[in-house]
Amino acid sequence: MSGEVEIREARESDLDAVHQLERACFPVPWRREFFASELQQTGRVCLVATRDSYLIGYVFAMTILDEMHINKIAVAPSERRRGIAIALMHLCMDAARERNVTLLTLEVRQSNAGAQRFYEHLQFEPSYIRPRYYPDGEAAVVMTRRVF
Ligand SMILES: CC(C)(COP(=O)(O)OP(=O)(O)OC[C@H]1O[C@@H](n2cnc3c(N)ncnc32)[C@H](O)[C@@H]1OP(=O)(O)O)[C@@H](O)C(=O)NCCC(=O)NCCS
Repeated sequence: MSGEVEIREARESDLDAVHQLERACFPVPWRREFFASELQQTGRVCLVATRDSYLIGYVFAMTILDEMHINKIAVAPSERRRGIAIALMHLCMDAARERNVTLLTLEVRQSNAGAQRFYEHLQFEPSYIRPRYYPDGEAAVVMTRRVF
């Protein structure tokens, strides 16, 4: 670890690295095309974090009317617990306020206790369980947070 962390909008040339980190972080990763498609859509917040030009994290979120849904967030294992995901989420929340969003929502695997603690740290609360939400049959915990 040497240089500062930079956060900026994601671009097409980031997608190989995004997809590589995605495959390292999720048991059923998104396909690269999903990320590419998100970059083309309106109402999205697609950010990457880099250090020394290497991709170390990303967040992909979408706005639907007064709701922002966090589709994906990940930080490279060697860069965790340094506040990088918090920084990404704060930028999402800033974008949410600018767009008059009132509610943030997301799904997280029921077994992913670390991510649930992370979201609770950001004042998300569990709302309900979606059984068999993931392709491998695991349930999702839907978590929400008011934007204020
Ligand atoms: C969840 C994830 C994005 C958090 O990234 P991160 O950059 O390490 O998070 P931060 O450093 O910003 O964490 C901020 C706070 O959240 C909480 N937190 C984060 N990760 C946690 C964990 N594994 N266990 C318990 N609390 C955690 C802590 O309170 C932490 O503050 P602290 O380090 O001062 O104690 C990262 O662990 C990750 O990429 N996991 C794999 C992908 C994933 O599960 N994504 C979410 C899918 S819904």
